[in-house]
Amino acid sequence: MQPVAPEKLYDPAYIKQLFNEMSGTYGLVNLISSFGFAWWWRGQCVRLARLNEGGKVCDFMSGQGEAWPDILRWIGPGGQLYAFDISNRMVELSTQTAAFKRSNHLHVSNQNALVISFTNASMDAVISTFGLKTFSEPQLHTLAREIMRLLKPGGTFALVEISVPASAILRIPYMIYIQYCIPLLGRVLLGNPDNYRLLARYTRLFKNAKRAQAIFRIAGLETQYTEFFFGCASAVYGHKPPTA
Ligand SMILES: C[S@@+](CC[C@H](N)C(=O)[O-])C[C@H]1O[C@@H](n2cnc3c(N)ncnc32)[C@H](O)[C@@H]1O
Repeated sequence: MQPVAPEKLYDPAYIKQLFNEMSGTYGLVNLISSFGFAWWWRGQCVRLARLNEGGKVCDFMSGQGEAWPDILRWIGPGGQLYAFDISNRMVELSTQTAAFKRSNHLHVSNQNALVISFTNASMDAVISTFGLKTFSEPQLHTLAREIMRLLKPGGTFALVEISVPASAILRIPYMIYIQYCIPLLGRVLLGNPDNYRLLARYTRLFKNAKRAQAIFRIAGLETQYTEFFFGCASAVYGHKPPTA
């Protein structure tokens, strides 16, 4: 495959097509290839957002609703969950999940995070699991402003992403695994290995959530940064100042 040109890499139309194509295999590849770590990190991310029972939460880049069981557990039957994804195929598949079928307070839509339709100060919390790496730096600024706009004063947020560990002892085998083994698994499960190799490229370029933390701070959010399993994943989390 020809390498994807840098200007195309962060084009929302391209991202949509990429995830539409991956939608059939993404869930299984993600579950098997992460040995359950992705599931664990999602739970940690949801915990960092300090959700309250009855809260109104927005799940950005929701994929096939992988984070929904955790979020729904925290907000309980009185809460409302608004989820969206740019990939119409991911959204369609998410409406076939048990979480979606069981819950009548879960609303999912096909939207681009950079131009979402939700009203100002309407959410108690924003969550995103593994959706950060496909944003360029200017797009991260827009995303941060959207989160700032959407949150009620004092509202919380947490976003987690696969990252590049700082220590070479872990970084080298981990990046070999992401670059070669996951695409192989994608192929075995009848996906396109080039797409999974591309996810490794996004991860290399993303590095970790530190840049996102700095950008979120510029947008006016109070931010903190943390890492999981020696930097294999990292998260930015915090809240909108109560007076903002
Ligand atoms: C790696 S998947 C993560 C899915 C899920 N949140 C999870 O925990 O597995 C990234 C998702 O982000 C979505 N995405 C990427 N850019 C987006 C954007 N600009 N707006 C909305 N969704 C986007 C993709 O379609 C894809 O479903």
